[in-house]
Amino acid sequence: MTKVRVQSQRSTIGRMAPTSCLIGLGCFLVLLQTLAPAKAAEHSVFTHKNASSVLGQLVTSSTLVWESYDPKDATQLQFAVEGGKYVTEDEHYPMYVCRVPIDGIQVSGHTEKILQRHVCLAAHYKHGKYDSFDVLMNKGHLGKVGWRHWRKFDAGVPVGAIRIGDDSYIGRHRAPSQPNKDGVVTHWGADFNLGHLEPVGLGKIRVIEAEREKYYDDGEVLVETEPFRYELRDIKLDRLRTDIQENMTELVTRKLENLEDKYSTVETILSYTFNYNQYWGSHEGVARGLPTKIFEKDEAVPAEINWALKHTEKRSENKAVHTKLWPGTAINVTLRGNYVTLEAPYSGKLFAFYYGSDESVSRKISAEVRKSYLKEVKLEFSPVYWIENGTLVPTTTTTTTTSTSTTTHATTTSTKEPTPINEPPLVHMKDNGVQHSGPDTLEKTLHDSPSSNEINSHDAPENMSSNPGKDVALAGFGVNAAGSTFIAGSTVLTLLLTLSLSL
Ligand SMILES: *[C@@H]1O[C@H](CO)[C@@H](O)[C@H](O)[C@H]1NC(C)=O
Ligand SMILES: *[C@@H]1O[C@H](CO)[C@@H](O)[C@H](O)[C@H]1NC(C)=O
Ligand SMILES: *[C@@H]1O[C@H](CO)[C@@H](O)[C@H](O)[C@H]1NC(C)=O
Ligand SMILES: *[C@@H]1O[C@H](CO)[C@@H](O)[C@H](O)[C@H]1NC(C)=O
Ligand SMILES: *[C@@H]1O[C@H](CO)[C@@H](O)[C@H](O)[C@H]1NC(C)=O
Repeated sequence: MTKVRVQSQRSTIGRMAPTSCLIGLGCFLVLLQTLAPAKAAEHSVFTHKNASSVLGQLVTSSTLVWESYDPKDATQLQFAVEGGKYVTEDEHYPMYVCRVPIDGIQVSGHTEKILQRHVCLAAHYKHGKYDSFDVLMNKGHLGKVGWRHWRKFDAGVPVGAIRIGDDSYIGRHRAPSQPNKDGVVTHWGADFNLGHLEPVGLGKIRVIEAEREKYYDDGEVLVETEPFRYELRDIKLDRLRTDIQENMTELVTRKLENLEDKYSTVETILSYTFNYNQYWGSHEGVARGLPTKIFEKDEAVPAEINWALKHTEKRSENKAVHTKLWPGTAINVTLRGNYVTLEAPYSGKLFAFYYGSDESVSRKISAEVRKSYLKEVKLEFSPVYWIENGTLVPTTTTTTTTSTSTTTHATTTSTKEPTPINEPPLVHMKDNGVQHSGPDTLEKTLHDSPSSNEINSHDAPENMSSNPGKDVALAGFGVNAAGSTFIAGSTVLTLLLTLSLSL
């Protein structure tokens, strides 16, 4: 029965009736993608997500893409998702997950090498090996991709399964190995055969085995575990390419006046708001919008932003300003702020965290940061004038001075007649409540030792933070990399961490 289905898949893409799709849009996109000539090198990957709806939901992966195989690009496959190992007497090499359109339907398989080129083995008929195909790429190196054990009686399609073609998901089955005449089990060729999980009925895993199509009741399904949050640490600015724009802006202006009949202290609270902005750039393979904590040097509390989105906070501050004035006189006070916009390339370490796992994965990234903040606030005030007619009260000096010192509120009163003032008043300003202005922590790091601004030393992913010694490069080849196995319900998820130290 299932075979009939495959036959019909081969016949026409018209079969992709929207009714058979879980989500119309997803189908539409796949349809578009299938119809479009293979011009664009990259195509989205859809995964079966942690669904709230009964029908399940398909989501575009933020870390995986299909990329056209380019035999001339020797470095392309370093990001490819491994599907198993090909073993011959004189060679061991990784096989990668590939797909190829066969009669308009995407079919998954694995790569094999013919001389120095890779081909995609995806079908049993004709020659079954394709020169032109797509490879599954984990470019950001922050997606965890692994093979999860699947049995016919497990319920449905695992969360994170990677969709291929029309409602089927990438799967594999271990290649059977026969003992040789000495009773030694040796296996030459692919250790796993890649194919797909067809969730028809209870489901089956279909693979090409020994040039034949075979169906199994169990096997492994490729799943992507996406991070749900990030942390950015070890931030280093490129000091030479840092640009700082300063803009003196007026924050607030007010009149301080003495309406009483004696020489006395007048006080007012000046309030203002400003935007504290930060944008930490975007990066290939790093999911846009994911909650991210930014750990800046010497900053006690990390900023919480959404990755690749501009983060704006409206901040407000209050300053108390007081002075002594003669009856009937006033001064104007103005607060000006130095509003700074800092832009700089930076490097940092991005840690990704996953549901169901205590382990984080980190990699070095380079991006551009843009921050706007209020660096300093200055007080300015006008000469003293008569409230009644605005005429300046004559003084011997007219210099405007600023002061940020804190003074006591001693209220001196006098019953004497106001005499012409021969010196400008002393105006005092002090902070009232929480202050947010001041040199930014990021700007401060610019004054650190010169060695702090090295950048771009290498872009390679780094180790799993809590598991430094493990050989993650080889994880997933049927051998459970000890540190990357975790229990999810009753099933075991073997993580294939395609990030590795050696790449
Ligand atoms: C599904 O998402 C919920 C939160 O939305 C999370 O608690 C749960 O662990 C997720 N399950 C898997 C398998 O990712
Ligand atoms: C300075 O700041 C003001 C107010 O925030 C803004 O309108 C103006 O465009 C800024 N000027 C420059 C050069 O950034
Ligand atoms: C004080 O402020 C008012 C209103 O803003 C303005 O009209 C006046 O010229 C100012 N006086 C001085 C002395 O700056
Ligand atoms: C302005 O008003 C003050 C106080 O009433 C007065 O002493 C002063 O002469 C006035 N100045 C002018 C130019 O009218
Ligand atoms: C590897 O992980 C360990 C443990 O978290 C950490 O101390 C070390 O700095 C990491 N190495 C690199 C190169 O990130």
